[in-house]
Amino acid sequence: MLLIQLTGLSGAGKTSIAFRVQQLLLQKDIAAEIVDGDAYRKTLCKDLGFSAADRRENIRRLGAVADALVQQNIIAIIAAINPYEDVRQELKTKYNAPIVWVHCSLDILIERDTKGLYRRAFLPAGHPEKITNLTGVNDVYDIPVDADLIISTHTEDPETSAVRLLAFVLKNLIDEES
Ligand code: ADX
Repeated sequence: MLLIQLTGLSGAGKTSIAFRVQQLLLQKDIAAEIVDGDAYRKTLCKDLGFSAADRRENIRRLGAVADALVQQNIIAIIAAINPYEDVRQELKTKYNAPIVWVHCSLDILIERDTKGLYRRAFLPAGHPEKITNLTGVNDVYDIPVDADLIISTHTEDPETSAVRLLAFVLKNLIDEES
């Protein structure tokens, strides 16, 4: 069974693509679960913030949850920013988890700004709503060195992105069986 780790900036489309792929897999009677950063930050990871140490711990916990699903023969897709190359490589080695970069240019993310986080990151220093550690703006995002798949959500429509990820998942399943 398969563990896929998505990585990409907030708002790039990781969660939407993952849930669409889950639907498409279900149509083929293949079970998949999404291990979503935003969701687990309200439960298992609610003690964690956005320091480098906490983000690392967050991804390691999501990795453990995803691995438990895989043990139950369920495809697990981690949808989190997952910003550090060393931790991505750690999961890749430990769980044989390919890296899928959901890439969107910062210009477009700032324009979309679905959660209002980018606006807050660009506020002047000292503003009460200012965010000082938003990934890609004023916090680190390691560009994936050797991603197994790159999905560019600023050039593709969501359905095309989902279908590409679906094809990647199915290919990995076949490779695994052979
Ligand atoms: S990760 O860096 O540890 O992988 P994760 O994907 O779990 O992050 O959570 C990111 C989500 O937390 C974002 O989509 C956003 O909704 C929220 N968030 C709040 N503050 C920040 C911040 N400073 N940097 C990134 N995301 C933030």
